[in-house]
Amino acid sequence: MKLPAPVRKLLRTRIVWTLSGLTYPTAAYATKGRLLTQSQYLGICRDDMSRLAKHLPPHATILEFGCGLGGHLIAVDGSVDLGVGVDINRFFVRLARKMAFHAGAFHLRFVSYDGARVPIIPGGVDVALAIGVFERIPRSLALNYLDQLSEQLKPGGRLLIHLLTERAHETTLFDRLGSEAYTPWSPSDMNDWLERSDMLVEEVIPWGFRPRSDGSGLSTVAEIHVLAKPDGS
Ligand SMILES: C[S@@+](CC[C@H](N)C(=O)[O-])C[C@H]1O[C@@H](n2cnc3c(N)ncnc32)[C@H](O)[C@@H]1O
Repeated sequence: MKLPAPVRKLLRTRIVWTLSGLTYPTAAYATKGRLLTQSQYLGICRDDMSRLAKHLPPHATILEFGCGLGGHLIAVDGSVDLGVGVDINRFFVRLARKMAFHAGAFHLRFVSYDGARVPIIPGGVDVALAIGVFERIPRSLALNYLDQLSEQLKPGGRLLIHLLTERAHETTLFDRLGSEAYTPWSPSDMNDWLERSDMLVEEVIPWGFRPRSDGSGLSTVAEIHVLAKPDGS
């Protein structure tokens, strides 16, 4: 359902985004776009991580950038050595810690920061993951975070980056917040960054479907780019 323009404008404000983290239902709505019980939320995160499982080595150190309520890391707690969730919203981080505690997920750490330097994980990470983040921030900032995340990867590590494609414009995806809230990526935006980094494309996974606005079926709205850092051998 398309929300009225003033409501969309209000939902886009930084203060509403931040304060949405005060309760679980509002935080789930802000990060997932709909109201979800905790078990529905954790189920969705488990499904996401099982689709990505082949890119997550056992006993890995995983960094989730923009972790929100932490469900992706909670889903893989049993198979990682360490999972670190980083988010700019300290209320989301507080909820993530609480949910991890209740889930008995004890290999995880959740950290809030000011949005400037991504916290450094000592020893580096095997996988850095960002889902639903880069489409909500200006591209220049996202490129800067890509640099920072790839610097933290160990040789042979993977960067898993969710990007909204331009096809999202055909769909109902923007009905809640308005298209102004999103930054879709074209293939050349990613290619330009790849050319100046040492990362190699391993796979591009179609991710997320939405109804087309004209009612004619579904379109893929996003992709997860799996990028590999050369292992130096
Ligand atoms: C749509 S939510 C996705 C949350 C989570 N990745 C998921 O898929 O459930 C986007 C998340 O990115 C976070 N975020 C936005 N800007 C950020 C930044 N500059 N650094 C870190 N996190 C950021 C938000 O606070 C929010 O938790």
